[in-house]
Amino acid sequence: MIVSLVAGALWAMLPAYVPNNVAVLAGGGRPIDGGRTLGDRRLLGDGKTWRGTAAGTLAGVALAVGLNAVRTAVGDALGTTLPAFPLRAALGLALGAMLGDIGASLVKRRLGRERGAAVPGLDQLDFVVGALALAALLAPAWTPSTFSLPRLGVVLVATPLLHVTTNAGAYLLGLKSEPW
Ligand code: CTP
Ligand code: MG
Repeated sequence: MIVSLVAGALWAMLPAYVPNNVAVLAGGGRPIDGGRTLGDRRLLGDGKTWRGTAAGTLAGVALAVGLNAVRTAVGDALGTTLPAFPLRAALGLALGAMLGDIGASLVKRRLGRERGAAVPGLDQLDFVVGALALAALLAPAWTPSTFSLPRLGVVLVATPLLHVTTNAGAYLLGLKSEPW
């Protein structure tokens, strides 16, 4: 019961979890804001690049396609039924996660935080909000039926924990310049 709840919630969010991590590995090159400023601050900053965003989105969608292929086998092994990802849902989760993170950078720059500054709460949940919002837009029937209230609760509790541990891990491995 609890295993199937947690497994279903994390499975449904996987295409949104992976893009940010892939962006860290693949990022670099031209920043999305092209160096533009708003007032005396950068619009987004050098931490949001076209390459990172494209690679992250593609990785999230590719992962969803892969998860669809093993869904039945993994679900059987766990004694539960895991959600499948229609392409629109996969795109909504992956691109939405990237856009949520980009939106947070826009907010952070307006608050006067430099690139890489930590904003607790915003850093951990920006991409969840973006992913669910774009998924709801692109897959309006799938999203509320997949993210039931209990699963949503698990996502809101587990995501900050996962985010903190993966980012600290990436920092310790030298992949990221800050541990958040
Ligand atoms: N990254 C990227 N494109 C994105 C998101 C991330 O290229 N859309 C890469 C960048 O190299 C970035 C790194 O991943 O520096 C870490 O991502 P993140 O912590 O989100 O960015 P920060 O550099 O901390 O910048 P910000 O303060 O704007 O969040
Ligand atoms: Mg950061």
